[in-house]
Amino acid sequence: MMAKIIEIGSAKGGVAKTTTTYNLAYVLKEMGYKVLAVDLDPQANLSTCFGIEDTSVVQITIGHLLMNMIDDEDMLDANEFILRRNGVDYIPASMMLSAVEAKLRMEMGAEKMLSYVLEPLRERYDYILIDTSPSLGALTINAIAAADEVIVTVNPQLLAMMGLQDYLKTITKIRNRINPKVSVAGILLTMCEPRTNLCKTVIEQVQDTFSGQIKVFEARIPATVKVGESIYYSEPLLEYAPGCNATVAYTEFGRELIENEG
Ligand SMILES: Nc1ncnc2c1ncn2[C@@H]1O[C@H](COP(=O)(O)OP(=O)(O)O)[C@@H](O)[C@H]1O
Ligand SMILES: [Mg+2]
Repeated sequence: MMAKIIEIGSAKGGVAKTTTTYNLAYVLKEMGYKVLAVDLDPQANLSTCFGIEDTSVVQITIGHLLMNMIDDEDMLDANEFILRRNGVDYIPASMMLSAVEAKLRMEMGAEKMLSYVLEPLRERYDYILIDTSPSLGALTINAIAAADEVIVTVNPQLLAMMGLQDYLKTITKIRNRINPKVSVAGILLTMCEPRTNLCKTVIEQVQDTFSGQIKVFEARIPATVKVGESIYYSEPLLEYAPGCNATVAYTEFGRELIENEG
């Protein structure tokens, strides 16, 4: 087993990065893969999805692991910090991650710290998914520098194209300068109302702009109240609403992602 590391990113907030990371983790688990989800957002929304109510009391978060790495200390035993919920492993975040981000800005070679944390974990998993914050700061650079692939989520209702080009440029820079193996797996449209004109227009715009260059996933995630409800109850869609259209869409998305890899 040698995990593929996938970053779920975008230059915007509120485009379902966290929702996608969380539900993709369970879709891949359901397909029989071993999955680790890493929360790299100081807001720790993904950790909340996994049921952690107060992240400040978690003893070892991704922030602690990065801080350890910055201080050149020995890597902790994975059994001490990897948590698990319903068959999916995860590493939580906390606010302390913002302090780490500030520190990363002043460190030599700081772009690879997350990569150094995750590389030894590759042998335990098929997929390692990283949820990021919308800023293009040191943490996100670390995530792209550690990744084999990036999934970019786009919400048609939030002026989707804005920020997308910047994000793709950042990925290209990181590929050229730090991590030659990173590629864009594709663009995933989220909170999409296929019947609305806006959604149709944005889908066309995204397809025209990137046709032949970047894959736009066929699967599109519809907007549904079930998503908010499932997060409220800290349950993945597969458990909370197995037959719901967003659940089906995330399952199709998972299949498409795997097929893509050939
Ligand atoms: N398919 C969807 N339908 C309805 N609401 C959604 C859907 N996906 C995400 N949301 C909601 O949109 C908000 C932003 O989603 P989130 O995953 O936190 O975005 P990000 O991590 O990109 O900031 C959340 O309140 C979430 O519950
Ligand atoms: Mg988020």
